[in-house]
Amino acid sequence: MAVDDPNSKNAHVRLDQLVDLATPFAVRTAVTLRIPDQIAAGVRQLDELAKVCEADPGALARLLRYLVHKGVFDEVSPEVFALTDVGELLCDRSGGGRGAYLDMDSLGTRTDLALIGLPHAIRTGEPSYATVHGRDYWADLDARPAMRAYFDELMLSQQLFTAPEVAALYPWHEVGSVTDVGGGSGGLLAELLAAHPHLRGTLIDRAEPVATAAGRFADRGVADRAEGVVGDFFSPLPSGADVYVVSRALTDWSDRHAAAILRRCAEAAGSTGRVLVVEVLPTEPWVPHLSPYDLTMLVSVGGRERGVDDFVALAAEADLALRKTYSGTGGLTLLEFGAA
Ligand SMILES: C[S@@+](CC[C@H](N)C(=O)[O-])C[C@H]1O[C@@H](n2cnc3c(N)ncnc32)[C@H](O)[C@@H]1O
Repeated sequence: MAVDDPNSKNAHVRLDQLVDLATPFAVRTAVTLRIPDQIAAGVRQLDELAKVCEADPGALARLLRYLVHKGVFDEVSPEVFALTDVGELLCDRSGGGRGAYLDMDSLGTRTDLALIGLPHAIRTGEPSYATVHGRDYWADLDARPAMRAYFDELMLSQQLFTAPEVAALYPWHEVGSVTDVGGGSGGLLAELLAAHPHLRGTLIDRAEPVATAAGRFADRGVADRAEGVVGDFFSPLPSGADVYVVSRALTDWSDRHAAAILRRCAEAAGSTGRVLVVEVLPTEPWVPHLSPYDLTMLVSVGGRERGVDDFVALAAEADLALRKTYSGTGGLTLLEFGAA
């Protein structure tokens, strides 16, 4: 079909929309130069914006007008700009904020840029992060404390959201000791110990989050019952705890790796301990290929989203059988496993 055939136009337009890279980079550049923040602070005139954002006025005008066209900014009078509701979202630099994620110097953009290696990931089934950035995701976080801190803050915001319910849903009064495997900076474990003063806890993770967790345990007044251990959940775990929690960590891994983590938990839990998988599962029927997140998980860490049946199948590979399921709000799901 000829390119100028009117019947083909639609497909060309749709293809252009699919492959456009200028728009995502334009939005991220605006965030990186802190243009939305400056406009929100009252710097709205082109030359003043160029000055405070250290930009070339002519180039900045082109960027701003392109993003006006895309609905990020308004040009309310000649060379005077305002934020749209979309633009306002870009000012949010909090842990889960869009501005924090989209800044070109952020972990968010660094993670998304692993998509350059998508051909490698599709050919091999392995993450491409290391081929793009020189080392795997977790080693990269180890080497970049600011990005690790951002990641931990992001995880913490989610842990603090679900922890009170995890503390209430499970019969912790029947448990003496809990180990949080890949527990991050300790938000969940600290809340469990604070809610259940008889409980003792161990957190296992990489060095940086374990150090952060120590501060969190102290802040929550549970440091005398909490221990942080720098460890690797692919290696044997300290045995003897009543419950081994794995909260939202399996999603970061392929089936082979996730089953290996569960195997380590199963070994440590032995015949009497329990393995408690904590996940926030989609509340609506969720179709992986409808979400770009699925491909981002593949390229960054080799992980994937799973449903309850998938976790049960993974656990079976680690000789674990489902004992009980606890359901909370917003898709929060606790799957309790014991030796099969
Ligand atoms: C998605 S975060 C989840 C953190 C926390 N459990 C939560 O619910 O928010 C996954 C955690 O696994 C940790 N992790 C990654 N590789 C690990 C390894 N080999 N051994 C132990 N922890 C690891 C990361 O540092 C991170 O804190």
